[in-house]
Amino acid sequence: MAGAKMTDEELMSHDASGMLGVLDAFPEQVSEALEIGMSDVALPDASGITDVTILGMGGSGISGDVASVLAPLYGARIPVLASKQYSAPAYLGPGSLVFAVSYSGNTAETLAGFAEARDRGARVVAVSSGGALSERCGVEGVPLFGIPGGLQPRASLGYLFVPIICALERMGLLSNAMRDLRGSLPVLESRRAQYSIASGIDDNPARRLARDLIGFLPVVYGVEGYLAVAALRWKCQFNEMAKIPAFHNYFPELNHNETVGWQNLREICSQAHVIALCEPGLPERLEKRIEVTLDLIGGSVAHTTRVFARGSNTIERLLDVFYFGDYASVYTALELGQDPTPVERIDELKKRLAG
Ligand code: F6R
Repeated sequence: MAGAKMTDEELMSHDASGMLGVLDAFPEQVSEALEIGMSDVALPDASGITDVTILGMGGSGISGDVASVLAPLYGARIPVLASKQYSAPAYLGPGSLVFAVSYSGNTAETLAGFAEARDRGARVVAVSSGGALSERCGVEGVPLFGIPGGLQPRASLGYLFVPIICALERMGLLSNAMRDLRGSLPVLESRRAQYSIASGIDDNPARRLARDLIGFLPVVYGVEGYLAVAALRWKCQFNEMAKIPAFHNYFPELNHNETVGWQNLREICSQAHVIALCEPGLPERLEKRIEVTLDLIGGSVAHTTRVFARGSNTIERLLDVFYFGDYASVYTALELGQDPTPVERIDELKKRLAG
């Protein structure tokens, strides 16, 4: 069936575990996550915080990348960094605020970082739906944003990053981010109307892109800031939803290495579909780079496509481009006859590591 043009019913028949329905509920997820973020979780003392670190892996870890790019735009004047490894960063100490984020609450790297952050006297807050992390928070009196379980972590982005933003704002480290999150809800609803399966292929850019990707290797380029995080998100969603290889990079850094790399191994290069994530009104110095680069590499790769994030502020544009990528990766999965939800290799790997 892969490669043939499928009807809506055929496409949906591959979504055995209901990922499209989960994506359709994303605006409600963000709204509920705002309530969770505003709930009476007792946050640590906010005085003298020198740095913020978000520990987490994969679909949970991306919440740290999102927080790290949004925080400076909403007034953070201290470093806000994501950490995706077993070891907590060496700079952690009593002046550090640490978010340990694990949807399952059982991710080994995040649990190790959590323990180390606690040992170093950092002020720790957790976000999780259960598992060992939630248990440890209960035993050790660590504030926990408890989020609903039963989803895939990568389909829970709202639950995972919104409480972090709310906590930072409630602690006086950010301002106006919650206002913009609330304001993004009607925008997300209108994007859902456009990206969901109810929207026919002609009106649905996510479905069209998925069709154009069949048989090609997605290479997703972003631009410094939130679009670089979006490129990482798209790559990971193609990996986990569609179970295909995908790669990402961002401007301007990719101009200093990867741009040269499209020269040899011509057969492999000719299978790449380069997707450049951008926004209207980028600074000229970046816009020019995108144009020149796509022109330079256009003859070596199969396709180049530009996707524009839409919205009236960064949060709206970030959520729009993430939402587009989530749907595009799920439609790619369905076009390939692949159930987007299960990630058997991650499950098997975790099982073997635990055994
Ligand atoms: C699966 C997914 C993975 C997990 C990762 C960490 O949907 O997105 O990338 O997020 O294996 O697990 P958690 O999020 O439970 O800490």
